[in-house]
Order: sequence, then structure tokens, then C-alpha cells
Amino acid sequence: MPHADSSLVPESIKTKTEFWNHVYDQLNSLLDGQRSWVTNLANASSLIYNSLAAFPAFGTDPTRAVNWCGFYLDALFFPSPRFSTHAVSDPQTDVLLLGPFCGKPACQFINVTPGKARGVCANAFIRRESVLVPDVDEYPGHIACDGDTKSEVVCPLILRRPEGDIALGVLDLDCLAVGGFDADDKAGLEEIAHLLVAACDW
Ligand code: SME
Repeated sequence: MPHADSSLVPESIKTKTEFWNHVYDQLNSLLDGQRSWVTNLANASSLIYNSLAAFPAFGTDPTRAVNWCGFYLDALFFPSPRFSTHAVSDPQTDVLLLGPFCGKPACQFINVTPGKARGVCANAFIRRESVLVPDVDEYPGHIACDGDTKSEVVCPLILRRPEGDIALGVLDLDCLAVGGFDADDKAGLEEIAHLLVAACDW
């Protein structure tokens, strides 16, 4: 099967639970034989974004489309010097950097320094739990990378280790509709986040 066909959604898939199980299985196949995080996160963002566009609950009504899907990762995982960017000149500053994504251009970094952090991604990363935002205008500190975004869901990527959990970054999805995501979406994305963390070398 051509790789692009993994983002097709069969008409037999009706519910969100069926949809997320399908995406999980397709991602599992795409991950086979590859442990590079950049490669796997790139394909994951494309798979999720394009599968959502092909699924009637999101794709057939353009006002309910998912307009962004991607990753922000702890700057630790980027090979370029983390303080080379003029935007992050303070060595005490912890940031998530923009990783692989699909959608319009987005903020390059998100401050996760305790006491200075704000936004949905920072909160999910620091609290190490998913954050579901039905209306971004009602969320204090929301960072608007795209003024058209109305709702958002963010899942942390957590690496479980005997010596303690490590937060690697977050998976972030934006929707053009208020209330675009629900508990089924959050649960499906959390499973995908677990799969991705286990499938890559960090
Ligand atoms: N809205 C996010 C910023 C990232 S963009 O949505 C791509 C936040 O508040 O953290």
C-alpha cells in the first residue's frame, strides 16, 4: 500500500472510537522499522491531520475542520544550540520548540519556565496531563498562533522510566469550531501519544 493511503478512512468507520482505533493501527504500521523521532512525528502529524480531514465528524464541514496538528518538543531534543535563537537568550529559560506539524505556520517556541509559562501546551507539559479546551477565548493565557482556532486539545508525551517519568513534549490539535474535541478524541490521542513515545529512540 502506498504510504499516503494510510490516511484514507473507510466508510465503515462511523464513531470516534472506531476512527481513533483505525488511526492507531495505521500509525503502528507506519512506525514499523523506524525509530527516528523526527521521521515518526512527521508522519504522525500528517496521518492524524489528513485522516481527520477524511472523517465526516471533522472533514465534511469546513467550519469544523481541524486546522493544525503537530508537536512541540523540549528544546533538549533539537541538535542546534538551544540558545542560538535571539528569542531565547536567557539560559534559565526552558522552552518547547516547534516540531513536525501539519497546518499553517505556528509559534516557534513556547516558554515552559516555572513562573513564566503560559498557554495550553505549557500547562499540559508542566502538569503532565491532557488539556481539553472547548473554547480558547475562555482559556486564560491561551497562545493564539492562528486567530481562526476556536478549540484545542493537547496531550503530553511522557517517557516512563524506572528512575522517573520524563516529559518530552506535547501533541497539539486545533479546531475551527468551538467544542471541536471531546473525551473520545482526548482518549484516542493519548493512546497515540503512548504509541509514539514507545516507538522512538529519545
Ligand atoms: N495554542 C497553543 C499554542 C500552539 S498553537 O495552537 C499551534 C497554546 O496555547 O499553547
